[in-house]
Amino acid sequence: MTTLKNDRFLRALLREPVDTTPVWMMRQAGRYLPEYRETRAKAGDFLSLCKNTEFACEVTLQPLRRYDLDAAILFSDILTVPDALGLGLYFEAGEGPKFHKTIRTEQDVAKLPKFNAKSDLDYVMNAVSTIRSALNGQVPLIGFSGSPWTLATYMVEGGSSKDFRHTKQMLYATPEVLHALLDQLADCVTEYLNAQIDAGAQAIQIFDSWGGALAHREYLEFSLKYMQKIVSGLQREKDGRKIPVILFTKGGGQWLEPMIATGADAFGLDWTTPLNVARKTVAGRAALQGNLDPATLYGSAASIEKSVKLMLDDAYANAEKTGYIANLGHGITQWVDPANPKIFIDTVHEYSARYLG
Ligand code: CP3
Repeated sequence: MTTLKNDRFLRALLREPVDTTPVWMMRQAGRYLPEYRETRAKAGDFLSLCKNTEFACEVTLQPLRRYDLDAAILFSDILTVPDALGLGLYFEAGEGPKFHKTIRTEQDVAKLPKFNAKSDLDYVMNAVSTIRSALNGQVPLIGFSGSPWTLATYMVEGGSSKDFRHTKQMLYATPEVLHALLDQLADCVTEYLNAQIDAGAQAIQIFDSWGGALAHREYLEFSLKYMQKIVSGLQREKDGRKIPVILFTKGGGQWLEPMIATGADAFGLDWTTPLNVARKTVAGRAALQGNLDPATLYGSAASIEKSVKLMLDDAYANAEKTGYIANLGHGITQWVDPANPKIFIDTVHEYSARYLG
């Protein structure tokens, strides 16, 4: 087994000492990079890119060639799970993801096919093992999934949504149907993530991108409860090393206390939460990840540097030296100049030394 040359990302997640703050970017492989657009054109379209092991590996590594990142993230999508459940994922130019079928009734849920992560999503497992060997211990590899609630919004709406009308209607009118769907998704996601860990993923992130659209009681009942079920079912150690788990609920900064109770190792925050306050709340019980506004990367070099330094000042305001991973508060957008992530990443490494040295 190759030894990990840079493990500061895993160390910070487990609140062990680090020499400098680890940093990666959600959606770090993507359309803002010309080399990504070139590989996607070769693959034909986005889904073919995900399903081709060699191309998926290539685009995972592209941001690591440009920037001094402390982690790689598997190139795939959260919607591969509903696709494997027979919903028929497709992308229409400029319109985001769509499904041929939707889930709206008790019968729709009952008719979902049996799921086998290793065979139904074998292309994901192939990508994980190929990327892991290509990394050759340079940095750890993150595996991921959507949360049951976030996956359910796409399955019920049939694609992206602004108001989640049908999903919320199901939640308030026939909650038992939504619970049946979420429970089944939690089992699928647990199996899917354990298969990624088997294939070589060294940390896991659960993307609960739309948890923040829920009212506070409903967040606990319809999103957090099912993430907790997943966390309890995950393999947490492999080859003598812990496999840390990160929960990222966008818009969820106010729910840190109940999140800690899930037993996850770390929580992602978006840019609306003051990091110094969140670090005080968590008080050494978990690690935090985030939370630069991705739009910061539209600014000048000087303004990016200034925002990053203020974020680090907040992260280390309470004299706690580890348990923090720098990231954006959500995915990097396609309109970012590829020169700008370097300013973000290098500033994190250079400036954090004053707190950690
Ligand atoms: O972070 C990474 O670099 C790994 C790859 C990754 C993608 N999607 C690639 C992708 C990850 C971790 C995701 C997660 C994902 N996918 C989420 C959760 C994270 C979040 O942003 O909240 C969600 C909600 C999705 C669903 C999804 N996939 C949407 C809404 C879209 C279209 C949005 C857009 O930017 O057009 C996708 C497509 C997608 N997934 C792209 C990429 C690089 C763009 C597709 C393209 O190349 O045209």
